[in-house]
Amino acid sequence: MRIKRYLLTGVLAAGILTTLIIKDSKSKPPFEEEELKLMNEELINLVKKGDELWHSPKLGTNGLTCANCHPDAANSNPHTFPKYQSNIGKVATLREMINWCIQIPLKGKTLPEDSEEMKALEAYSIYMHRGFKLKPGDNEKAYPPVRVESGPGYP
Ligand code: HEC
Repeated sequence: MRIKRYLLTGVLAAGILTTLIIKDSKSKPPFEEEELKLMNEELINLVKKGDELWHSPKLGTNGLTCANCHPDAANSNPHTFPKYQSNIGKVATLREMINWCIQIPLKGKTLPEDSEEMKALEAYSIYMHRGFKLKPGDNEKAYPPVRVESGPGYP
């Protein structure tokens, strides 16, 4: 008797859940125009923040900025990570390499890898390389770097 009741409750709950899921997927397209606009704005805001940091001497202590050596994110090669970096001595992520440049060429203090600043620098570098093919491990730098005059930039 009790088993029957449990079974009945189970079937009922599953039925309600299925109806809810079907109803929800029918009434709503994957993303509304407004949601897409908001998502894109949020991304561009992060990229802009990264652009500012990329051009700011505050990441280091010697007045240099990332843009001095990587104008328009040139030669930051985000599409080639992860890859073995001989100066780090192991397979490194893009974030580890960004920290290497903050520490060595900029003589600054490394950023926590999950910080907003790190995410912004990463977002800027990757966004400037959109369209590049992923090539993890590439040390040949076979792809032409992003150039100041021809980099895709952002709106
Ligand atoms: C004084 C010049 C200089 C400055 C300033 C500088 N870098 Fe670099 N960066 C280098 C050099 C040199 C390498 C190549 C190191 C290597 O691969 O051995 C490099 C490599 C990189 C790479 C990896 C590229 C690859 O394909 O291996 C990234 C990413 C990077 N830099 C990001 C940054 C960021 C972000 C900043 C600012 C925080 C910065 N760099 C500032 C000189 C600089």
